[in-house]
Amino acid sequence: MRSDEIKAIFDQQATCYDERWARTAPIREALHFLLEAVFAGLPADARVLCVGAGTGEEIAYLARRFPRWSFTAVEPSGAMLEVCRNKAIEGGYAERCQFHEGYLQSLPEQNAFDAATCFLVSQFILEPDARAEFFRAIASRLRPGARLASSDLASDVTSVEYTALLETWMNMMTVAGIPAAGVEQMRTAYSRDVAVLPPERVASIIESGGFADPVLFYQAGLIHAWYSTRPPADAQ
Ligand SMILES: C[S@@+](CC[C@H](N)C(=O)[O-])C[C@H]1O[C@@H](n2cnc3c(N)ncnc32)[C@H](O)[C@@H]1O
Repeated sequence: MRSDEIKAIFDQQATCYDERWARTAPIREALHFLLEAVFAGLPADARVLCVGAGTGEEIAYLARRFPRWSFTAVEPSGAMLEVCRNKAIEGGYAERCQFHEGYLQSLPEQNAFDAATCFLVSQFILEPDARAEFFRAIASRLRPGARLASSDLASDVTSVEYTALLETWMNMMTVAGIPAAGVEQMRTAYSRDVAVLPPERVASIIESGGFADPVLFYQAGLIHAWYSTRPPADAQ
């Protein structure tokens, strides 16, 4: 899918996005809880880059937990970013946020960030070299030694396990209240518009993108999350 088509889908879903996925909160909350541990070594005034911030769920969690951290939300969908901004205003942390409508390439140059998040974003880049380039662009914005936490759908789609897990994942969506037509749309999207790759392959793409030692720290169904590190200057 082209980036303008992806943006159009999220523009269209933005106002009901949080409500639609509300019942999947346990999966998100566990990821955010562990994220705190992943980012445990960050300074008290850390600057965090959030690529594909969506409606700002990860920012909302971290902003509540770390009152001196600041956040740069990079999000191509203006409608998703608007939800993110309103959430920040309501939550009282908007003054600690920079909201960039667009892609990382157009984010104005600024001091290197202490950490980055990129949750459920790189999977939309179907071509592996372009996906590695996407991670490389994130790495270029981080200080040496900074940590990236990223998540994507991952599985070996040729395996029997994937067939079983996909059914379980679709059942989860039904339990979460996603209408049947929406569940079928997701099934089609996974086979056509989302690069669901084996976890080891995603880890190797993260490494090709300039991050060292990806660690798989979380899995819930098809969602896998890694942390990895931009190597120190003398190791690059
Ligand atoms: C599935 S949502 C996840 C949002 C949020 N990170 C979360 O986990 O709740 C993916 C988001 O990434 C954005 N996105 C897609 N491609 C992107 C890209 N190349 N760079 C930055 N954001 C992108 C979409 O507009 C969408 O808001």
